[in-house]
Amino acid sequence: MRKVILALESTCDETAAAIIDEDGKVCASAVAGQEELHQEFQGVVPEIAARAHLERIVPIIDLTIRKAGIEIDQIVAIAVATQPGLPGSLLVGLCAAKGLCLAWNKPLVAVNHIHAHIYACGLGKPTSIFPCLGFVVSGGHTHLYRCESFADWKLLGGTIDDAAGEAFDKVAVMLGIPFPGGPRLAKLAESGNEKAYAFPRPLLDDPSRLEFSFSGLKTAVRYHLVGKGKQDFTQLKLDEQQRADVAASFQRAVIDCLVGKAVAAIRQTKLQRICIGGGVAANRLFRELLAQRIESIGGEVIFAPPELCTDNAVMGALAWEKVRIQQFDSLDLDVTPGLVRG
Ligand code: KG4
Ligand code: ZN
Repeated sequence: MRKVILALESTCDETAAAIIDEDGKVCASAVAGQEELHQEFQGVVPEIAARAHLERIVPIIDLTIRKAGIEIDQIVAIAVATQPGLPGSLLVGLCAAKGLCLAWNKPLVAVNHIHAHIYACGLGKPTSIFPCLGFVVSGGHTHLYRCESFADWKLLGGTIDDAAGEAFDKVAVMLGIPFPGGPRLAKLAESGNEKAYAFPRPLLDDPSRLEFSFSGLKTAVRYHLVGKGKQDFTQLKLDEQQRADVAASFQRAVIDCLVGKAVAAIRQTKLQRICIGGGVAANRLFRELLAQRIESIGGEVIFAPPELCTDNAVMGALAWEKVRIQQFDSLDLDVTPGLVRG
């Protein structure tokens, strides 16, 4: 009988489940997004996200199990992302996982969402990705980790204000692109001139600091569009080319910061390999430019597959590492919403 785990993910605004077997094969995966619920607020509203998870989690689990065509007896553990994330959203996933553990008499495995984003880089690969420099670039995080093994992580540095994805989403709003604007802004940037406007690259000129800051860059774009002290973007009179030029110039500034700090981190840590996950890791130009720069200094670059960059439950395959050594979690476990340093 083939052994599988059921993995759940509900850290932000995606409700996801996956069934993964002991060889890492994905038997089924399902993700329910909530974009339409948050669009009018131009950002994720935590309370709405939690309520939507509550409605979706059981149907998503049911669908995933039926798609996989497995028997409940085959499930050897229930994995769930318990940190970091929105408290209410995390709680829905954890409570669902605990309920199933009790009902089906299965052990619980807690998954760190950040670790899972990096672990996604190794899925389907014959050799381990560890040790590596882990770079999580998402809507909530822009952080660099020294990763010695699946269980040994050390935070090297991260953003001191906005995350890269958050900056993409906020500048997208300024340009009238509906939430979540990151991927659409990237698409618009394809027809723009990235040299049109010289937006700042905060902290880039100090390679000793493995930190990022995107809030000043975001403000620079706002000043450029509407002027100091103004917030109203509805009266903007930009033609399509000007919008594309702003998008391209902004995107290039973000990517230059991400690439510059990744190179600095490789040099500082002397790690040979960098693994990149999180929603922004799906950005085509970022993938191209980072690969070029890291390979030019002799490093190896592994991006998560594009379909596993944004939130999903397949990356919960990380839980197999704990299942193999019988490292299970107590049903007393609580969620940990804040950033985890190790
Ligand atoms: O990893 P993720 O699904 O959720 C978090 O854990 O935060 O990342 C979502 C973020 C959003 O900010 C979204 O706009 C951004 O990733 N994103 C992108 C692209 N695809 C997703 N940003 C830039 N270019 C993209 N192609
Ligand atoms: Zn994520």
